[in-house]
Amino acid sequence: MAKPLTPHLLNIRSIYDARAATYDHETGPDGFHPRQARDYVKWASPSPGCKLLDLACGTGEISLACARLASPGMVIGVDISPASLEVARQKAQQVGLGNVKFVEGDIADLLSEWAEKEGIRQGMFDVITCASAFVLLEDQPGAVKSWAKLLKKGGKVIFDAATGDSQIKALALERVTEKLGIVRTYTREGIDSEEKVRSLLTGAGLDDSEFFVSENYEDGGVVVVENAGATFDDLVKEKKWFRGWYDELDKPGRMVKARELFCKEIEKIANGEKEVRSWWRFYMAVGRKID
Ligand SMILES: C[S@@+](CC[C@H](N)C(=O)[O-])C[C@H]1O[C@@H](n2cnc3c(N)ncnc32)[C@H](O)[C@@H]1O
Repeated sequence: MAKPLTPHLLNIRSIYDARAATYDHETGPDGFHPRQARDYVKWASPSPGCKLLDLACGTGEISLACARLASPGMVIGVDISPASLEVARQKAQQVGLGNVKFVEGDIADLLSEWAEKEGIRQGMFDVITCASAFVLLEDQPGAVKSWAKLLKKGGKVIFDAATGDSQIKALALERVTEKLGIVRTYTREGIDSEEKVRSLLTGAGLDDSEFFVSENYEDGGVVVVENAGATFDDLVKEKKWFRGWYDELDKPGRMVKARELFCKEIEKIANGEKEVRSWWRFYMAVGRKID
């Protein structure tokens, strides 16, 4: 039996269930998610016969591409969003891929009976990928340790975390929610430096020598310290993006405080400069199981 979902996981599930039908079409093929997914397939480079576990597989872009390369091996995709998994299954059916299956579950709870019943076992996988989701996990060190156990000797896990100078507005908002005592949907605190991300790998007994920093995927823009209040107002107006992630800020009385705190956080991040350049690049945590 899987554990009951926490409020955090229920929130994640509802955000991605709501996005499932549109996720693959939110941008053109050169948008961030499609580009990063293509890169993941390249980095995973599954060889024929290999067993790959695609964690937080969403609508299955990486799982499907890897299943083609891994054949006659197999791919298991796991996600907490049933609606996303349904899209993934339909795509697999449309292209007639029989060596991939999609399983609903929490990727931080894989050393459990439910996962074993789905064929997810210790020492089994050549490659484990987790694209664009690590930041959403509550117990990040615990998750990496559990994934390390699922790897075969010589196998590798790959996940990403935005570099400390990336996605500055989201970073400031995360700190605002923390200060206001609001449940955080994502947490960059333990993964905002190369050192911290590497130590997640080594702490799980994995070799971190294949770690690298990705290209810059998008122009993150410049945030001017003096205009931080207006930047916050624009963010809040972006309802499509804001909805689900920061709903609790939307409650009466919170916005004014949140705006004030956001300005302070931007000032802190700028560290005496008049503006902050925001990037869109990632620490690519590649951990190899040596023994
Ligand atoms: C930004 S999407 C990434 C989807 C896919 N990996 C990609 O690159 O397009 C994040 C995904 O993580 C999933 N997710 C987040 N936390 C999860 C958890 N604890 N267990 C399973 N799935 C999770 C969400 O449901 C969502 O599908």
